[in-house]
Amino acid sequence: MIYPIVAYGHQVLKKEAEEIHEGDDVSGLISDMFDTMGKANGVGLAAPQINKGIRLFVLDSNLMLDEEDDEKGIRKAFINPIILDEYGDKYTFEEGCLSIPEVRAEITRPEKLTIEYFDENWNLKEEEFSGMTARVIQHEYDHLEGILFVDYLKGLKRRMVKGKLVDISKGKVSTDYRMLYP
Ligand code: NI
Repeated sequence: MIYPIVAYGHQVLKKEAEEIHEGDDVSGLISDMFDTMGKANGVGLAAPQINKGIRLFVLDSNLMLDEEDDEKGIRKAFINPIILDEYGDKYTFEEGCLSIPEVRAEITRPEKLTIEYFDENWNLKEEEFSGMTARVIQHEYDHLEGILFVDYLKGLKRRMVKGKLVDISKGKVSTDYRMLYP
């Protein structure tokens, strides 16, 4: 099943998502989230973006990498994740979000992180990620905390996207995937 993607301005994107009861079967939902993400050509999708306020996201960082990159991407679901630590050099990268079409902005984040999470079979994992994979994890994890990448923009940069954000929240945007407006 392909879900519509919640647009900027919807309350679910501002709320802290709730933990999933350990052992609950979310395999169907995870599969739907991968399908929804793929249909929209996204590299990551968090459950609040399909109007479910639960702590789950999926990502496929392979889509951001090519053969020339040293880094290997991952295609994974993260259930009840906790970022334990972020470290390494901070760097700036242009981010976008399926909930905020046509807006992109340079965001600075640490290069590496350690994260604890359950995989889709409810095995508890603790892993380190870096590069593009870490970047997508940080962005998706923020969605579970009710934080959007545009929330990091201040002053002039914020004012420059303000009009576009208002348009998106009113449905005045065109996408090739279905959206759910506030
Ligand atoms: Ni996003």
